[in-house]
Amino acid sequence: MLGIMGGSGWSKIDWLDNEEKRMVQTPFGKPSAPLQFARYSDSAAVGNPQEAICFLGRHGESHTIAPHTVNYRANVHAMWEAGVDAIIAINAVGACSAAFSSGSLVLPDQIIDYTYGREHTFFDTLEDFSSHVDFTEPFDVALRQRLLACASAVDIPLHDGGTYGCTQGPRFESAAEIRKIARDGCDVVGMTLMPEAALCRERRIPVACICMVVNPAAGVADGVISIADIEQAMATASTNVADILKHHLVSPA
Ligand code: HPA
Repeated sequence: MLGIMGGSGWSKIDWLDNEEKRMVQTPFGKPSAPLQFARYSDSAAVGNPQEAICFLGRHGESHTIAPHTVNYRANVHAMWEAGVDAIIAINAVGACSAAFSSGSLVLPDQIIDYTYGREHTFFDTLEDFSSHVDFTEPFDVALRQRLLACASAVDIPLHDGGTYGCTQGPRFESAAEIRKIARDGCDVVGMTLMPEAALCRERRIPVACICMVVNPAAGVADGVISIADIEQAMATASTNVADILKHHLVSPA
């Protein structure tokens, strides 16, 4: 079963056929929202097996949970226990350079973690060496390739590659912080992909992340970051992400 971890702009999906919403408890507490088990029935895809989906919005059903207070462990554990075998994460980001315009989509292939104080691991003791998971390639190669193929099939540009810098939030960064993050090699900056991606690796769940570029990061363009501009870019990007996901769900792997 495919998991979709929604971010800002993705607290709910209104184009799925809901089958069941289930609030679960985990050893790490409650996830951000009830797990939403659903299918996408596209009338054009007659006879399609309609893959089951497990959707969870990491900011909660009403988008009230801030990036640094998301219970990432409960979210990932809940999806894992539900039987999810791959996760597509959707994350809103700022662009660290003018190379990515607002509304565009990026499929990162690397991560730098700048967060702190988050519960970032399932392994709080070192019983053996299994807690030292390999994270050389944070994203699943096959899932990334499939998303690139789906984007191409529906004619939506999805930039292949880039480094996601995960900051603590909830404030945006200073211009100097973005200059430093860009010097570090980050292409986009967001607040939510970590520790989520690392926890998925600890649970051996393959992950790919579609980034919606919703603003130039601090200091990249003139002026301050505008929430109105972010909302506009998010609307455009979300429609395109939905089209990629729909194609993913109706076309055989
Ligand atoms: N910085 C961090 N997170 C973000 C941004 C940003 O500029 N835009 C959307 N999420």
